[in-house]
Amino acid sequence: MTASVVVVGSANMDLVVATPTLPRPGETVLGESFTTVPGGKGANQAVAAARAGARCHFLGAVGLDAFGDELKGCLATAGVELDGLRRVVGPSGVALIAVDAAAENLIVVAPGANAQFTVLDAVDRELIESCDVLLCQLEIPLDTVAQAAAAARAGQTAFILNAAPARPLSAGLLALVDVLVVNQTEAAVLAGLDGGRDASRADNVPELLAGLLAAVPRVVLTLGAAGVAYADRDGTRLEVGAPPVAAVDTTAAGDAFTGAFAVAWAQGRPVEEALRWACAAGAACAQHWGASTSLPLRPDIDALYERAYQPQP
Ligand code: RIB
Repeated sequence: MTASVVVVGSANMDLVVATPTLPRPGETVLGESFTTVPGGKGANQAVAAARAGARCHFLGAVGLDAFGDELKGCLATAGVELDGLRRVVGPSGVALIAVDAAAENLIVVAPGANAQFTVLDAVDRELIESCDVLLCQLEIPLDTVAQAAAAARAGQTAFILNAAPARPLSAGLLALVDVLVVNQTEAAVLAGLDGGRDASRADNVPELLAGLLAAVPRVVLTLGAAGVAYADRDGTRLEVGAPPVAAVDTTAAGDAFTGAFAVAWAQGRPVEEALRWACAAGAACAQHWGASTSLPLRPDIDALYERAYQPQP
């Protein structure tokens, strides 16, 4: 049977400027092209999971504005099921993004409609209970994430939390997590290391993994182009390198990784295989411009996975 993933999360319209260099605080730089691209960590991960082969549902909110129409259209075109999408009075979420020549980005999100997504009803809870995996991020109210997590626990649905953007979380919410996916900054915030801005401690992968395993049973620590580190309470420790690619824009590479990982987890694939396959999805995404526009289809993930990780004849 096709694996099912339900994403409870955000949708944003990304307003993206390409620039030779990213500005420092107080600096103005002259950029190049400007584009609008449907994004938002929740919507990106829903599109990523659908393109990676899952039956995917999205619960979230967009405004009754033109951006809301476009965000809905993007999700529908990707095959994401939208019975739980709310249209609310007010603007849709927006992300201001600058991408530099080295494919790095800066992102600021104005939550808009995402902040109005505060209540899950009985139909939402039943849907979560019926799916293989619940996938959340932190661009919607934390109480909504907690409601979704409680429904997942009630239905024995696996709960994967991508704790992005970084926010401190309660022990009660973390206790419901089956797999935590974080980058080093997010991990440092959750582990309470100087607000996540102490670079030397955020670089200490074993310290981060050990700190997080006190709160959750499994941790995936994403390391950008270097790949990921994984640890669980059964003592498994894995390091998986990412396939080397020519990166154009790393926006949504983490979403491609997390969406694909959720699909592999829902399918019950062994963890090392799931991590490699998800790394292939993230690397494939970084080769293209934009958020939803760059999320790979399953055959593209499979091709990069085979090339990077399978012995060549
Ligand atoms: O992860 C990338 C996403 O972060 C962008 O699409 C932007 O909308 C922000 O949510």
